[in-house]
Amino acid sequence: MATLPRVVELGRDPKSSEVIEEIVKMEKKIFPKHESLARFFIDELRKKNSGLMYMDVGGEVIGYVMYSWPSSLYASITKLAVNENHRRQGHGEALLRAAIEKCRGRKIQRICLHVDPSRGSAVSLYQKLGFQKDKLVECYYSENRHAYRMFLDFD
Ligand SMILES: CC(C)(COP(=O)(O)OP(=O)(O)OC[C@H]1O[C@@H](n2cnc3c(N)ncnc32)[C@H](O)[C@@H]1OP(=O)(O)O)[C@@H](O)C(=O)NCCC(=O)NCCS
Repeated sequence: MATLPRVVELGRDPKSSEVIEEIVKMEKKIFPKHESLARFFIDELRKKNSGLMYMDVGGEVIGYVMYSWPSSLYASITKLAVNENHRRQGHGEALLRAAIEKCRGRKIQRICLHVDPSRGSAVSLYQKLGFQKDKLVECYYSENRHAYRMFLDFD
């Protein structure tokens, strides 16, 4: 019987270090160096105001979303990725929805994120879930690599 995909919140249990290793591998594969959080994952996750959820399909980690809430005013989606061979099956949307719900639960008014305009799939996904483009931030990632700042306000 096929195992149903499930969104899991990264815990502090021993299995979490294996999961982080998998995610770091994916991060290096999917993102260019200047956009990759691979080197900072563990430090980032030690912070009390950040969280990570991943998509588990039969014990395999196939995607992840990372978020933080730097203040009581807003939260940020800091990463979202799905393995190339598992895309277009609804996993990215499920992860993003789960992260939005987490942030909503923290009674935050706004979620912000930055995304490279050339990442069309991600921009469409963010727009599908209600994010709006705020502005283009020049040289956000590196010289000549800009980012849209996007936001979602809760009512
Ligand atoms: C962006 C990403 C996470 C989407 O994951 P996914 O699991 O393939 O997305 P889903 O199957 O859940 O698709 C949900 C929506 O995303 C958008 N989308 C996803 N893939 C798309 C594509 N190839 N072209 C256009 N829109 C796309 C659509 O709006 C889609 O809704 P629809 O199915 O009703 O058209 C994935 O493409 C990815 O990991 N990309 C590389 C990393 C990245 O760019 N991350 C975001 C920046 S941090």
